[in-house]
Amino acid sequence: MDYHLCPSILSADFNRLGQQIQTLEEEGVKWLHIDVMDGDFVPSISFGMPVIRSIRKESKMFFDVHLMVSAPERYIQDFVDCGADSITVHAEACEDLERAIELIRDAGVKVGVSIKPATPVNDISHLLDDVDMVLVMTVQPGFGGQKYLNECTEKIEELRELIDREHADVDIQVDGGINDETMETVMKAGANLLVAGSYVFNGDLASNVKHITKRMQH
Ligand code: DX5
Ligand code: ZN
Repeated sequence: MDYHLCPSILSADFNRLGQQIQTLEEEGVKWLHIDVMDGDFVPSISFGMPVIRSIRKESKMFFDVHLMVSAPERYIQDFVDCGADSITVHAEACEDLERAIELIRDAGVKVGVSIKPATPVNDISHLLDDVDMVLVMTVQPGFGGQKYLNECTEKIEELRELIDREHADVDIQVDGGINDETMETVMKAGANLLVAGSYVFNGDLASNVKHITKRMQH
């Protein structure tokens, strides 16, 4: 199982976005977490295709696109066309989740499914053969810089147990409130892909990444 830090550019300085992505690449970061919000599924609006298309020109990183968007089926091909390597949709946002997964798969990129803190693992457990990753939200989706919700830890544990029992080839990603303390908790619970926004971008980017990636090695 591979462990990766997935910096969320939601917390980047957009005035220097290209430079900051270059710094991440120089520090050996392989994944880039890209949060798309539509002001409907979540209260806030972030950014969309033009930003992704533009950073794609300069970056070889794995573009992990997290769609916090209602009825994301409408946009799968657009996000693939502008450079997504993986697309994650929310179970709560899709009328027909199986169909959304199939659309992503058919478009030729990796498939992720995400659950909000109140959504039980049970709602997506029948899909483990169809997805590459499950994203367990550890805050309410919508904003960076929130506090990790402790009640989500047991969902990570439950999912890890299920994946191991079924020998499913599925990564567990966590997103929200990851910091020095909670990264231990989530890795112990079984997560292997750690999204972090404010923890990575607040302060000195290069030294933050060095510090975090060192702590992730075990
Ligand atoms: C929240 C987003 C996260 C967010 C994480 O809705 O999905 O990716 O950027 O930010 P931090 O790490 O600051 O909680
Ligand atoms: Zn996210």
